[in-house]
Amino acid sequence: MILTLIFTVILLYYLQHAFFYAKNAYRQYTYLRNFPGPPAKFPTGNVLDFGTNSFESTTVLLRWADEARAQGHNIMRVWIGLRPVVLPLNGEALKPILDSATELTKGEDYNFFISWLGLGLLLSTNEKWKSRRRMLTPTFHFAMLDGYVEKMDRHTQILLDILDGKVGKELDIYPFVKRCALDIICDTAMGTELDSQHDPDNPYVFAVGDFNELARDYMLTWYYWLAPVWFFTQRTRKMRLLDTLTTFTKKVIADRIEQHRTGELKFDDTNGKRKAFLDMLIEMKEANALTDEDIREEVDTFMFEGHDTTSSGIGWTLWCLATNPAAQEKACDEVHAVFGDSDRSIAVEDLKGMPYLEKVIKETLRIFPAVPQIQRKVQNDFKIGECTVPGGTDLMLAPYLVHRNEQVYPDRWSFDPERFNADLASTRHAYDYVPFSAGPRNCIGQRFAMYEEKLVVAWILRRFSLHTDRPMLSNMGGAETVLRPSLGVPVTLRRRQ
Ligand code: HEM
Repeated sequence: MILTLIFTVILLYYLQHAFFYAKNAYRQYTYLRNFPGPPAKFPTGNVLDFGTNSFESTTVLLRWADEARAQGHNIMRVWIGLRPVVLPLNGEALKPILDSATELTKGEDYNFFISWLGLGLLLSTNEKWKSRRRMLTPTFHFAMLDGYVEKMDRHTQILLDILDGKVGKELDIYPFVKRCALDIICDTAMGTELDSQHDPDNPYVFAVGDFNELARDYMLTWYYWLAPVWFFTQRTRKMRLLDTLTTFTKKVIADRIEQHRTGELKFDDTNGKRKAFLDMLIEMKEANALTDEDIREEVDTFMFEGHDTTSSGIGWTLWCLATNPAAQEKACDEVHAVFGDSDRSIAVEDLKGMPYLEKVIKETLRIFPAVPQIQRKVQNDFKIGECTVPGGTDLMLAPYLVHRNEQVYPDRWSFDPERFNADLASTRHAYDYVPFSAGPRNCIGQRFAMYEEKLVVAWILRRFSLHTDRPMLSNMGGAETVLRPSLGVPVTLRRRQ
């Protein structure tokens, strides 16, 4: 009797869920069936048209976006199985969602990262996000960036020493840049020397790379979305990686808290002993604003957001310079005008200059945006122009589609940093260029990122010239958590005299 009762309650629970799911799915279907987009089949939608890897799916989505734009639309939808995803295709269509102060919830594809990053700044929403954002914004204030730049410079000089031994033959520079970016963020976020540049087999370094690969496999492999398949094939691997990642950060945090407690750490803005991001979080903890777990999720969030993105940005910039020698020469002349033949460190003041190099980085982020796409799940019916996107629908905001809009960027595949001259840029809609997103949930680390990119690229140009015989577009971008180059970044370095 009791068993029957329990069984009936469970059944009713699931039936109720199924009913609301079906009701919502039908509502989404009625709103979205007339949106422009590729024809879809029940029940797979457009999944089988995406190709077998991220390079193919990126090309396919751009083709659909071009077709929709050619018919005069600035929005389209695709179906991932029974789940609709709506894509704004230009700045005007992006603006309402990016500017919204209420639709702040991230889309479903972020859920994979919750077990690592918790509900830190990147993944939280509404009031929690607002209070975290208010609390963390000062940690990226100009004054804090000074200290971060010193650390960037030190780790980049290690990179140069390593690259010095590799001149004259083709090498994939991407993994070297990635390890440098990881050392930089580890030092700035946690005040800890990871030294992955000399110790690439460190388990933490390995786990960061492996977790990102696992996330990529999950996003691109539809059968992993079936819970039992995932459970029996990949769950153990994910748990093991999570254990390595969080054990490492928890230990660094515990050690640092202890050093604060004993007064062992003495900060001094003039002799390189500046505060790391973690030190500021520990001070907030002392004011009872954060718990140990809050600190961990923020540190891990910044570790994650703060190195894969910048290494993709730097990698693609080096690729664009190697494949566009005239731009490389011009950037090199500018760098030489600032530093001459000296070997001095790069300081914040230098990074506020070098306008041509900045345009090079911006044009690279246009064609090859390091964060190719982000998502929001709208909680209520949401208007974009004349269209209503029903509540519960995921919006994919994709810089790699918006930045490659021929109507806004004529001759879109030509690498032309002059597009970012102030007079030309001012003729475009501000949201036709959004590598760091925009509005209240934009990238909190964008100034940090631009400084790091400029610093690393400027140092490489001071020491080396970059060469390749391959054309720029032979290297395809795959839209994963970051934009991955299909060839890596294969260049030959020559020492500058
Ligand atoms: C080229 C480098 C970078 C690019 C292209 C980039 C891009 C972005 C984008 C597009 C978002 C919005 C994400 C979303 O709404 O889902 C974002 C958010 C964020 N970024 Fe970056 N990012 C870069 C570097 C960094 C760095 C270096 C840090 C930290 C040091 C950082 C920390 C964050 C954080 C914490 C958020 C979440 C902000 C919030 O939701 O309030 N990013 N970034």
